[in-house]
Order: sequence, then C-alpha cells, then structure tokens
Amino acid sequence: MTLVITLDDQNRKTALAEAARILLSGGTVAFPTETVYGLGADATSAEAVARIYAAKGRPSFNPLIAHVANLEAARQQGLFSTEAEALAKAFWPGPLTLVLPLAGSATVCGLARAGLDSVALRVPDHPVAQALIAAVGRPLAAPSANRSGHISPVTAAHVFTDLNGAIDMILDGGPTLVGLESTIVACLDDTPRLLRPGGIARENIEAVLGRPLKEAASSATPAAPGMLASHYAPRAQLRLNAAARAEDESGLDFGGTFASSPDVLDLSPRGDLIEAAAHLFDYLHKLDAAGKPVIAVAPIPHHGLGEAINDRLARAAAPR
Ligand code: TXA
Ligand code: MG
Repeated sequence: MTLVITLDDQNRKTALAEAARILLSGGTVAFPTETVYGLGADATSAEAVARIYAAKGRPSFNPLIAHVANLEAARQQGLFSTEAEALAKAFWPGPLTLVLPLAGSATVCGLARAGLDSVALRVPDHPVAQALIAAVGRPLAAPSANRSGHISPVTAAHVFTDLNGAIDMILDGGPTLVGLESTIVACLDDTPRLLRPGGIARENIEAVLGRPLKEAASSATPAAPGMLASHYAPRAQLRLNAAARAEDESGLDFGGTFASSPDVLDLSPRGDLIEAAAHLFDYLHKLDAAGKPVIAVAPIPHHGLGEAINDRLARAAAPR
C-alpha cells in the first residue's frame, strides 16, 4: 500500500519527518518539484535506487538526477568548471540539471549514475522538495514518478494512478508549476552541451554562457531511455548466459551458478533481483579492474529488474 499525504500547515512537519524516515531506511517517496513529480530514493544507497527502477518498471538503467540542497552540496558530488558554476549561480534553484565529472568526495552511488564517472545534479525550486532534501540530509535520486513509457506526472493523482502499491509514499503538494522536465546541460569538457531541452530555454542558458550551446554528440543524446551510448562499458569481453566459468575467465554470478572462487562475484547469492541490480555496476567495475580479458556472466532471470539487468549486460557485451 502506498501512503498518500496531502500536505497542509498542520501535518507538514510530521509528514516530512515520516517521508525522511522512509527514505533513510531505503524506501521510495514521490514528491513535487517545480517541474514534475519525482520518485525519490536515497541516492547514496544502491539498494534504495534499485527500488526506483523496480517501481518504474524501467527496461534499462538510465542514469538518474541527484537532487541536492544547494551549490555547496552539489560541489561535494560534481566538479564545476567556470561555466558550470555560472549556470548554477544563474539558474539554481530551478529547472536546470548539470551533468558534471564525478568529484572525489561524491557519495551518489554507481547505480544512480548507471556506472558512469559523471553525475547529473539539480537544485529543485519547490518548498516540499527543498524541505525533504534538508530533512534527509543526503542527495535524492529522482526520475519522473511515472511507470516507464508513461507521461510525466504533474499532480499527485497522476502518480497514484501509475504507482499505487509500487512505492511507499506520495507527498501531495499540489500541481507542479513548470510541467516539463528540467533542461539538461553537460559540462564535461570545455564545451557545454544540451542533452535535453526542458524547463529553461536554450536562449537563456546561452545568454549566461555568452556563446551557443553545442548539440550533444549524437552518441550522447538520450534519444530514448537507456539509449545513451555513454553508458559504462567494461574493457573486458562479456560472455553472457554462461552455464559455467572457464579457468581463465572471471565470473559475474547470480544465485550461485558458478563454483565459488576469488575470481567470482555473485550479484545475489540468494537470487534477489533488487540486490543484484544494486551490485551490478560496482561488480562490473571490480571484475574489469581485476584484469581478466573475459567475464563469464551467469544467466539472469528476465522478470522484474532482470529485464533491466539483462539489457545493461547486453549493451556491455555488444561489440565496440
Ligand atoms: O525535471 C526533471 O528533471 C525531473 C524532476 C523529477 O527533477 N527528473 C527527470 O529525471 O526528468 P529522468 O530520470 O526522467 O531524466 C533524467 C535524464 C536521464 O534520462 C538521462 O538522459 C540524463 O538525465 N542523465 C542523468 N545522468 C546523466 C549522465 N551522467 N550523463 C548523461 N545524461 C544523464
Ligand atoms: Mg522521465
């Protein structure tokens, strides 16, 4: 059952405290931002983030936006170029998301970043979103609070229709103002790029930069969810649906298919797909760093989050 609370002056404090408690224990809470309703989870916990993907029924792991309190909090997660800093100062809080190189002090987990060494950050301009981030004291990963493929919700009723029973709580703070997702700008090198048009017009961003935004290189355009070519890809070859591991391979296991070995990491010995999703990118990185040229991957069931895990593995295994 999903708890729905319509916020008013009387219940506001207790409702936010309850929402923060749910988030800190790894649960999911939908909340209003100025753009659309977001489905929030603790961005520092891969298991919490896995519950977002499970609730949305996402067929793949798209990197998510981490919502933070202010520029200081953003600096802990991402590295700001001079231009990124100028954009943050001009448009935060507000419907601008900046994709930045990951900072050494970052706490946003690998699953929220889909394994990338960059991070998407935004300071939302909504009192409920702001109060929730403050109460949790951690960045909140939040995609739009709709089932995958459905339209983005601008009222709590939209969220309820799509996600009742799949998430822990909905904070109803009334209809959102912008009704369109944030504009996403990547500042990863010396040319800021527009990854997604949205709530702030290109012209306004270019006025601050004093030069035109570059188009996203076609490979980085998030044309469809999960289609980002910039997804993390291991150096090692992946051998999928392996019934057994060869001596000279490392192993990415699920549910104890392979004989245990120092060269094997099991995504979930008890066969839990949420736990497996939480470990996926971390374990791929670890096995890749261990240096064997081939990673044997045990079969993973295709239901629930298995579909997204298998999608991600198929991309990671594709010839490059
Ligand atoms: O207004 C919004 O942005 C809303 C509210 C809830 O804040 N959120 C939202 O999130 O629209 P979502 O998950 O639907 O879209 C986030 C998009 C991803 O599809 C991906 O394309 C892009 O942000 N993104 C996130 N991290 C990225 C990264 N490291 N590199 C490139 N693109 C990234
Ligand atoms: Mg969306």
